[in-house]
Amino acid sequence: MTEMKAGSCAVVIVAAGSGRRLGHGVPKARVPLGADPLLVHAVRGVLKAGIATQICVAIPADDPELAEICRKLGAEAATAGLLFSVVAGGAQRSESVNAALAEIADGVATVMVHDAARPLTPSGVFNRVAGALRDGAKAVIPALAVTDTIKTVEPASLPATGAGVEKVVGTPARNQLRSVQTPQGFELETLRRAHAYALTLDDEAASRITDDAMLVEAMGEEVFVVQGSTHSFKITAPLDLLLAEAMLEGPLRPRWLEG
Ligand code: C5P
Repeated sequence: MTEMKAGSCAVVIVAAGSGRRLGHGVPKARVPLGADPLLVHAVRGVLKAGIATQICVAIPADDPELAEICRKLGAEAATAGLLFSVVAGGAQRSESVNAALAEIADGVATVMVHDAARPLTPSGVFNRVAGALRDGAKAVIPALAVTDTIKTVEPASLPATGAGVEKVVGTPARNQLRSVQTPQGFELETLRRAHAYALTLDDEAASRITDDAMLVEAMGEEVFVVQGSTHSFKITAPLDLLLAEAMLEGPLRPRWLEG
């Protein structure tokens, strides 16, 4: 394992999802956004932010095209003086993160976990997360206040017909809710412990783990919050891709000012 200088930060980019909801028929990381696949935008965003000494990408096993994209990205990263590694991801996101954690170089102190599906994340977000880690946070997430009212629901039936619907069981106070993004930053040792804990969960509990911070919370440790960005939105559905294209090359480009 390569030795990094003390205080180094590794960024894990998880890119092993299927992207079924996007409907492109290829893994999401390979879906084009402008001239380049989503993964290329995500990796270049990390390089531009200048906070990483290592990038480790998790891609689907047996995807030679993504492996070739990573080979080229590895050359770009090496030119910028970064270590670059690629691992095969797993069936669940947490398995993909876990595989990448095994490749982190000795001497790395902190790690950020970032979705390849957030290709337009501004440098400012990476810097805010890095700043909180420097200031002693062992876990930090970027987040935005929510604008919609959020309800919790459960399955129900309509009284007259028995038609299956949902009914509201609660309305959390909106001013306490945050919509959470990536990159999520951690002291490396804390994230490794969190993922070791995840391995002890049964399948149902594991399927409810949708981000890394949840695992740290479950261990009873503090997770701090910094300001996210509306530009860090996750490409999930076709409309997200349209918006990203408009921001990158289309009519919204002149208004895309955040660095
Ligand atoms: O599915 P979701 O939108 O939460 O995925 C977020 C990120 O996690 C995506 O970048 C996706 O490629 C990645 N992922 C992964 N391995 C999985 C599932 C998702 O790397 N098994």
